[in-house]
Amino acid sequence: MSSVIPVAPVPLTKEQAEAMLHHQIKKHHVAIILVHWFNAMTWILEVSTGAALISSRYFRVAPDWYIAMFNGLLGGRANLLQFHIALGVTWILVFLPYGLFGFRTYLRGEMLKVTDRDDMRWLIIRTLQILGKSDEPLPPQGIYNAGQKAFSMVVWMMTPVVMVTGVTMAFRLGSPWVVGWAVVLHFLAVGMIVAGLVVHVYMGAIFPEEKPAFFSMITGTVNELFAYNHHFKWWREMKVAHLAWEQKRTPKDKGVGSDEPEGEPAEKPATDSPG
Ligand code: HEM
Repeated sequence: MSSVIPVAPVPLTKEQAEAMLHHQIKKHHVAIILVHWFNAMTWILEVSTGAALISSRYFRVAPDWYIAMFNGLLGGRANLLQFHIALGVTWILVFLPYGLFGFRTYLRGEMLKVTDRDDMRWLIIRTLQILGKSDEPLPPQGIYNAGQKAFSMVVWMMTPVVMVTGVTMAFRLGSPWVVGWAVVLHFLAVGMIVAGLVVHVYMGAIFPEEKPAFFSMITGTVNELFAYNHHFKWWREMKVAHLAWEQKRTPKDKGVGSDEPEGEPAEKPATDSPG
């Protein structure tokens, strides 16, 4: 791409597309990748053991054989409960600092920006596309698309509910009425996240178009062509920042004697995601 940065996606030449395909740009910090996969593992274990712990016949989601299998694996219901609580408490302790420090840069900085018109249109057009009722191109998106942001908001709003109600139940903090409501709220909050997770895991791990996004959660990078096609606004922000950086460099910075190598600076992710 030349120094003329398009304001909207334009068709690329074969050479441009090829060059962009081979150029990786940074999307996720290693700390975020570790937190995300720790969170994913924790959710898999907590949801599978939690489903086996539900005794109320009104809320039961798992068949008898499933409950018997988990009770057998951990040597009885008491052990199963202890495992579920110990892992839940570990998860809270790991997440608390992340929630407190990540809030400003991540949630407020990126995720709560769904209000923009392109995001709203993206949600409508994507839904119509899935229903086979539209072939309109999707509006340009930032570092995360509107669907990812909507899911993240559910996660950020429901995670504290899951944590507080979990601790209330585990340590019987309050009257039977309070603990009773904690059970219901815990179930509902987990249900909302799990509903979003079905789509999230499908889009992240199975949907072919999103494969580079999946690998970015392992390597931390995506190819520039994917960023251009799926996250144009983010791609443009990076190009504008890069151009400004290039223009600010004095001839001395670029000249002989400078330790800094010529060429592109390491691209900095705008913000990053919780797991
Ligand atoms: C096996 C399970 C999971 C897979 C395969 C998976 C996959 C991914 C991928 C590929 C991304 C990167 C998206 C991008 O960079 O564009 C991502 C981001 C993210 N994941 Fe997961 N994830 C899983 C579990 C979870 C769980 C359990 C949660 C939370 C309850 C979660 C919350 C998030 C959030 C908030 C983001 C950032 C924004 C977003 O893409 O929605 N993920 N995940």
